[in-house]
This record gives sequence, C-alpha cells and structure tokens, in this order.
Amino acid sequence: MNVEFYEKIWMWAASVLLVLFVAIMLLTAASEAVHPPSHLETINPKTLRTHPEFSKPGVTVRPDGSAVVTVVGEMYSFTPDPIEVPANRPITFRLTSADVMHGFEVVGTNANAMMIPGYVSQFTIMFKRPGEYVIGCNEYCGIMHHGMVGKLIVKQLGVR
Ligand code: CUA
Repeated sequence: MNVEFYEKIWMWAASVLLVLFVAIMLLTAASEAVHPPSHLETINPKTLRTHPEFSKPGVTVRPDGSAVVTVVGEMYSFTPDPIEVPANRPITFRLTSADVMHGFEVVGTNANAMMIPGYVSQFTIMFKRPGEYVIGCNEYCGIMHHGMVGKLIVKQLGVR
C-alpha cells in the first residue's frame, strides 16, 4: 500500500499528539493528586436533620491534631461557615447535600469534590499554608449559585 508522504506526516503528528495528551493527563493526575471518586457511602437526604453526624455539621479535632469536617451543602450555603482547621494535619472532609447537587472546592488547593444528595463524599487533605481560603460551589445549583461561597480558615497550631 502506498501512503503519500504528507499523509504519513499527518498520521505521525496525530499519533504523537494522542500519546502526548494521554501522558499529560497521567502526569497531572499523579503530580496534582487527582483521584476519581472512590468513597461509596449513601445517606438519606430527607433525614439529614436527624442524622447522628450530619444533623450537627462541624469540625472535630482529634487528639493528634487531625480533624474530621462534616459539611452540608444547601441552596445556597455551606454549613458550617466558616470552617476552621489546623494547618499541616490530615483533614478529612465528609460532604453531602440536603437538596440538589453542589460543588465543594477550596480555591487554590486540590480539595474539590461534589456534594451529591444521597451520597457522602469523603477525601483527606493537608493544608500547608495557614490563611483564609474561599470555598466555592462549582456545580450549577440554581439562581443564586454564583453566591454560594464559604470560608475556610487554616490555623497554624502552636509549636510543640
Ligand atoms: Cu451550590 Cu452551585
């Protein structure tokens, strides 16, 4: 079979691009710690008010300084707000929604998960830089979606 010279160039160029794009995806997934959702836990969104954990969303700091943060998303706010956590400690977020699908993104970090009614999203992250972070909803959830923002305060613990 005779393949024209220019056609060969284009075939090679397309192949190189495909390999390049896949490599970029794999590299950024590894370097930025991008994970697919892997935590399957269901919850009844209608009974959140009486749920032992999600009826009292908040921060629970363990003796070693790590913390569990339970957050409920609801049109158009996050509870609790603000969220205060220690720096340089593993922080486990447990998220769900009381109504529709919301996003939970700590801007400037790779803390980013969906809040899905009926499910608990969970991930663990460490914040190295103390300061104030904006939490944004990045799933369109209604007319005031753009106003659904919260605050995360990362505090440096005393040196011990
Ligand atoms: Cu909540 Cu958009």
